[in-house]
Amino acid sequence: MVNKITVVGAGNVGATAAQRLAEKELARQVVMVDVVEGVPQGKALDQWESAPIELFDSRVIGTNGYAETAGSDIVVITAGIARKPGMSRDDLLNTNAGIVKSVALEIKKTSPNAILIVVSNPLDVMSYVALKVTGFPRERVLGMAGVLDTARYRSFLAEALDVSVRDIQAMVLGGHGDTMVPLISYTTVSGIPVTQLMDQAKLDAIVDRTRNGGAEIVKFLKTGSAYYAPSAAAVQMCESIVLDQKRVLPCAAWLQGEYGMKDLFLGVPCVLGRKGLERIIEVTLTAGERAALEKSAAAVREPMAAVSL
Ligand SMILES: NC(=O)c1ccc[n+]([C@@H]2O[C@H](COP(=O)([O-])OP(=O)(O)OC[C@H]3O[C@@H](n4cnc5c(N)ncnc54)[C@H](O)[C@@H]3O)[C@@H](O)[C@H]2O)c1
Repeated sequence: MVNKITVVGAGNVGATAAQRLAEKELARQVVMVDVVEGVPQGKALDQWESAPIELFDSRVIGTNGYAETAGSDIVVITAGIARKPGMSRDDLLNTNAGIVKSVALEIKKTSPNAILIVVSNPLDVMSYVALKVTGFPRERVLGMAGVLDTARYRSFLAEALDVSVRDIQAMVLGGHGDTMVPLISYTTVSGIPVTQLMDQAKLDAIVDRTRNGGAEIVKFLKTGSAYYAPSAAAVQMCESIVLDQKRVLPCAAWLQGEYGMKDLFLGVPCVLGRKGLERIIEVTLTAGERAALEKSAAAVREPMAAVSL
């Protein structure tokens, strides 16, 4: 385990992530920060009281300030507002940019060596805000989206094919929005190309459902957005870093020429280890996938240009 992981934002995603981090004992201390007085303290105490039952020794602490977060190894940023029905992720842009900027400034001061995992939406732009404000190298600023989008895609495929989720290998690239790019050419079931097991129409419907996976949950919940799968996805990224697993996970990374693109966050296959982003893997794409990735990049650049830092 590492010494300290901080989760900023003790709302649905943040608090669930903190609990998962503690239950997996990924850090000696898990610190939850939120602006609402009492909420991080209360949730942290409640989680810590589950330790003798769930059997973990990670201490969970809640606070409204950053002193307790000092020297964090990893900081997961979930602070911000979430979507309500009818809202796109980009509707959150200015409010969340201000919040992520203020959080990033605090982290820069108190945890200058931390690896940041950004969760707040619109994801690719908030990752950009965190990178710019902290000035951290790209190895230490990653966005969580692809692991979640891929998990949704894999869960829908496993259900449709009635096979174990364990046997679905897949990767969803691109921005975290309606333009995300599920790579059908790299989707296999224990090595068997998915196209041998499912007709194109059914596959297209699953791809479409994946693209709208977040909105599907928002429509059900009405007052908030998804958090069980998002928190699991952020924690999987933390786990690969803490345990130096070198997992190959789709993450939003700051591209510097990879996939022929530069100066934007986009979901690409990343090797995550103790140093954070250790490598970006460039896979061969079909002409259709490449065009879709470029379209997705354009959809990220637009709100990026609109954000004021
Ligand atoms: N990247 C993804 O795939 C993904 C998935 C799910 C949710 N999200 C995003 O994550 C964010 C959080 O979602 P949620 O469901 O947990 O929302 P939530 O409303 O339940 O929690 C957000 C928390 O942030 C806190 N907050 C606001 N300003 C803050 C600040 N300056 N410092 C510290 N805390 C602050 C709020 O008080 C609240 O407790 C949203 O922006 C949402 O869109 C992203």
